[in-house]
Amino acid sequence: MANVTVIGAQWGDEGKGKIVDWLASRADAVVRFQGGHNAGHTLVVGETTYKLSLLPSGIVTGTLSIIGNGVVLDPWALKAEIEKLEGQGVVINDDNFAIADNCPLILPLHRDLDGLRETAAGKGKIGTTGRGIGPAYEDKVGRRAIRVCDLAHLDQVDPQIERLCAHHDALRAGFDQPPVDREGLKAELAEIADFVLQYAQPVWKRLKKVRKAGARVLFEGAQGVLLDVDHGTYPFVTSSNTVSGSASAGSGLGPSATGFVLGIVKAYTTRVGSGPFPTELDDEVGQRLGERGHEFGTVTGRQRRVGWFDAVLVRQTCAISGVTGIALTKIDVLDGFETVKICTGYRLNGKVMDYLPSHAASQAAVEPIYEEMPGWSESTAGAKSWADLPAAAIKYVQRIQELIETPVALVSTSPERDDTILVRDPFED
Ligand code: IMP
Repeated sequence: MANVTVIGAQWGDEGKGKIVDWLASRADAVVRFQGGHNAGHTLVVGETTYKLSLLPSGIVTGTLSIIGNGVVLDPWALKAEIEKLEGQGVVINDDNFAIADNCPLILPLHRDLDGLRETAAGKGKIGTTGRGIGPAYEDKVGRRAIRVCDLAHLDQVDPQIERLCAHHDALRAGFDQPPVDREGLKAELAEIADFVLQYAQPVWKRLKKVRKAGARVLFEGAQGVLLDVDHGTYPFVTSSNTVSGSASAGSGLGPSATGFVLGIVKAYTTRVGSGPFPTELDDEVGQRLGERGHEFGTVTGRQRRVGWFDAVLVRQTCAISGVTGIALTKIDVLDGFETVKICTGYRLNGKVMDYLPSHAASQAAVEPIYEEMPGWSESTAGAKSWADLPAAAIKYVQRIQELIETPVALVSTSPERDDTILVRDPFED
């Protein structure tokens, strides 16, 4: 049976929510494999709007939903999100929801450190979501994290807490902050432990079992490839690997389970937070795109930066992530523009480049080379087939496909689930 891995192929916020929701309704299991509650997915099902940050999108339809070991888990954010969804009538139990017991925890001290660093960095800040994501991943690879399984052994946790807190005390001292209150932290963990543990298990085993039974698995990526800690616009990135390859390591299934890699690509470009953005528009065109596209962050409410489509970046992210096909979203936002531009290359120190270099200063210095195409005055909103699209819009999509060297599998033409032009069903073998 085919599996599907969905990833953002730009800087996140490509409109994964709608596509993931559509795919989740046909999957037998949905797995989050990286990131944490820094992600934001809005799902509209019938009359109800659900806002998810940490839980996999399958949860609202009762599909088995799994938080893999690659995620960093804030237990208090988890509880708040579950309670909110239960208040909306969603049923969540150990039958339809599981958390990897080897998942590292995000603790209050991680949130503190994230905030302290960002405040101290002033203009040089990364513009994080302030959820403690980076510090939690640092402690994971530093081998001092408290993990979900430790919640079942709090009587033995003192040496781990001491090691973790000693590390944080030194960092906090640099910001004139008092040492971590060990007893307070332990008490908080003791209070939340049972809530988390009711869902905890070795999820690799559960996944092995459902795979054996022929389940279709949907791996739900968060953020986007340009925020990947290795391949993104470092250091203005998140702290996890957002590429498709981490679906395997972050869930406990082998690489062949990844299946069809669906890259979600917005018909223009946006990013939140700081960092290079070659096609960024600071003019009224950017403002118009931002307003038409309602470009405000789901998690932080921050206004997103906006620019023209950058084919250089998407060609690169599709290659890095082995994207099988893309879902092009929000094309209707471009309706009514007399002309539209696509970035086809960069100029750096008089040289033409066909990729984004790794060095941060070079990334900030590249100048986009644009190709201009006629726009379209007709509405593309709600189109369900190619025949519903104006010729200029079809040409735009075809040109994107050519430049990124990756086929279009879907075109999304509104937030509604049915407003989609399906070229190739990712779940079909
Ligand atoms: P962090 O993940 O909170 O550490 O933030 C690091 C960078 O990733 C910042 O630029 C954030 O704005 C960005 N980021 C994190 N999560 C998302 C997301 O879900 N969508 C878009 N950007 C994100």
